[in-house]
This record gives sequence, structure tokens and C-alpha cells, in this order.
Amino acid sequence: MRTQVAIVGAGPAGLLLSQLLHRQGIESVVLESRDREYVERRQRAGMLEQGTTDVLREAGVGERLDREGLVHHGLELRFGGAGHRVPLTELTGRTVTVYAQTEIVKDLVARRLADGGDIRFEAEAVAVDPSAPSVTFRQGGRTHTLECDFVAGCDGFHGVSRPALPGARTYTREYPYAWLGILADVPPSTEELIYANHERGFALHSLRGPKVSRLYLQVAPDEDLSAWSDQRIWDELAARFATDDDWELTPGPITDKSVTPMRSFVAEPMRHDRLFLAGDAAHIVPPTGAKGLNLAVADVTVLAAALTEYYATGSRTLLDSYSDICLRRVWRAEHFSYWMTTLLHVEPGADEFARRLQRSHLDYVVSSTAASTSLAENYVGLPLEGVA
Ligand code: FAD
Ligand code: DHB
Repeated sequence: MRTQVAIVGAGPAGLLLSQLLHRQGIESVVLESRDREYVERRQRAGMLEQGTTDVLREAGVGERLDREGLVHHGLELRFGGAGHRVPLTELTGRTVTVYAQTEIVKDLVARRLADGGDIRFEAEAVAVDPSAPSVTFRQGGRTHTLECDFVAGCDGFHGVSRPALPGARTYTREYPYAWLGILADVPPSTEELIYANHERGFALHSLRGPKVSRLYLQVAPDEDLSAWSDQRIWDELAARFATDDDWELTPGPITDKSVTPMRSFVAEPMRHDRLFLAGDAAHIVPPTGAKGLNLAVADVTVLAAALTEYYATGSRTLLDSYSDICLRRVWRAEHFSYWMTTLLHVEPGADEFARRLQRSHLDYVVSSTAASTSLAENYVGLPLEGVA
């Protein structure tokens, strides 16, 4: 079996890469260890940078995004019993859009399959060869080999592609907390996202549509989900979002609950020979600031442009710069996510000195135009390098 580009993983990175390549007449096969339903239901990110929505539109999967995505012009930082709006669009001229990762994945799978694309679900890659490029995978109890010109390792943090990349250096930071995330069938209690810093811990109020809310709570890294009844979750959220005025959080039926560990991770370089890593396979950010999915989209946009240049002209210039171009953006997002995380979370055991520094930092971010512009331009996303 042979193709031009073997793509490991049908998350947003792998699916979008396959779609971008298809539009340039480049063939690919996507191998995915899970089944279609699982991939389309996995609850994850939801906030898209303007650059990400531009890429999705250009890739031909913007129709439902334009209909159902919610365009936001600001966000709220809430602390000390009061909300402080950061006017993202006023400060940067750009917007962000709430549209769930599940919906992006559904749109991409439907588009690829409608165009005759080859996505193999329940096909688990077991070995990747970066030099005689190929992927060995198991499907239906049998082992197959997919030969190719290039391998795109889009198989997330726990995939097989990164271990197949020799000589990569890794950089890691663990955090002493995790996020408990819920999806609830209740209209959001806010129009714009609320990032709350409270002495009980961080909380985030996001949304998925006019009738669906998405909320997160800072919890311990080893938190036992079974200790969190729906009532306890809503009580804790209400306590952390409480203001000195009459703002209220409306509770509702919880339809999904999970705990996400938080870490920062970068593998450098992101390429060896004919193997290219993209998205979570190469880097992880803590979720505060919503950079994970946006970085995955940026990586594959650069990779698609580099492969397009190679197949059109034979030039490897962009392929050779792939890792450097991506890593500049990755490290900016790593810093921003670390910064947003430490600005808003409560460090277990933090003393009063640390709490007062954090409060001063928050006051500064919402009272200085320079500081809030810095937050805003990172949040809406910096321009994409390396693509026309
Ligand atoms: P993934 O979405 O992880 O896709 C990788 C795919 O590869 C998966 O479908 C996997 O099944 C498949 N795969 C793995 N191994 C193999 C194999 N051996 N063979 C074949 N297929 C394989 N980001 C935010 O911005 N906000 C959030 O709220 C947020 N919440 C998150 C919650 C969780 C639990 C996780 C894990 C991540 C979250 N993220 C969030 C990060 C964001 O969802 C990711 O950055 C994004 O999914 C990256 O896309 P990706 O395609 O690189 O990887
Ligand atoms: C969402 C997740 C984030 O990490 C974030 O910073 C904003 C929004 C979300 O899932 O909606």
C-alpha cells in the first residue's frame, strides 16, 4: 500500500492536513486508532483564533463554523469580587470564535469522506520509519505497511510518532493542579468568557452555544472525579464566580465530566528526515488561554504549504524551515499559556506574599492598556509565519 503523505492520527491536526493537501492535489491516508464516533465526541477545546477560522474557511470547512460559531470581541477577568473586561477587538482589531473541537472534527471527517478521502478508523499505527518512510499499522487483527514520501505524526501526546523521532530534546513543566471540565445543558450565564481567580482556585466559564455551557474548575492533579457530585460542582463554581453585585450562575444538567492534567511540553526539533510532527504530538500547553488546538492548526498550515511547495517545484526550502518556523510560534504560545495559568491559578501552599503579587499583577493587567494589549494580542493569536 502506498500514498504520498501518511498521516498518523485523525484529530484536528491530521484531518485538517489531509484536507489542505487534498485541495492541492496531494494524496494522503489518515490512520486513526479509535472509531469515528469516539473521535467526534471527545470533548476538548472550543476557542478559535481568527487565524484558525481563516484557515478552516480557506480549507473549505467554514460553512457551519460561519453559521454556528459565536464571534467574541472581549473576555472578562474576574477577581476580588468584580469583573474586568479586556476588549480584545478594540485592542487588536481581531476577534475570536467559540466553536467546539468536536464540531471541527465532524466537519473535516464529513468533508474528507464526501470527497473520497481515505480515513481508516480503528487502524492503530505501531511503528513509524522516518527514513524509508512508512507506517506499520494494525487493523482488523492484521498488520499492514503504508509506504509514503512523508509521514506526518499527528497522533497526539501519547502517539507513536514522537518516540520514532531520533535525537529530539524535550522540555517539560508539570503544574500542581488539573482542570475538572463539564458540559451542561443550560444557557450560559455570561455572553463573554469569564476567567476567574478566587482564593478557592481558578474557574472558567465558557460556552458551546446559546443553550450549552462549558465550565472548568481548578482541582488537584490526582482529583477523584467520583467525589464531585453535580451539586458539589455547581456550588464550587458559584463560590468561585461570586461577585459583590447580583450576578448569578445558573446551574443545569451536566452531560459530560472529565479531569484534564496540565503540563507544558515541547519536543525539538519537530522533524527528522521525512517524519514531521504536528500538534500535540510535538507540544502541549496548559489549557488556560486555549492555545492547544490553535497551535495544531498553525503547524499543519505550515506543513501543508511546505509539502505543496515540494510537490510543485521540488524545493525543500520550506520543509527544511518547518521546525524552526513552528517552534517560534510554539514557544510564544508556551510562554503565554504558562503566564495565563500562573496569573490565574492558586498555587497550593502559596503564602500571602505570593497572593499579593498575583493580585497586583491582575490589577496591572486590567488597568494598564499596555499590559491588557499584550494579553489580548497573544490571546487572539499572532500572525502566521511561513505561509503566503
Ligand atoms: P489529538 O486531538 O490528540 O489527536 C490525535 C489523534 O491521534 C487522536 O484521535 C488519537 O486517537 C490518534 N492516535 C493516537 N495514537 C495513535 C496511533 N498509534 N495510531 C493511530 N492514531 C493514533 N485545548 C484547548 O485549547 N482548550 C481546552 O479546553 C482543551 N481541553 C483539552 C482536554 C483534553 C482531555 C486534552 C487531551 C486536550 C485538551 N486541549 C484543549 C488541547 C487540544 O484539544 C489539543 O491541543 C488538540 O486536540 C490537538 O490536536 P491534535 O490533532 O494535535 O491531537
Ligand atoms: C475553552 C477552553 C480554554 O482552555 C480556554 O482558555 C477558553 C475556552 C473552551 O473549552 O471553551
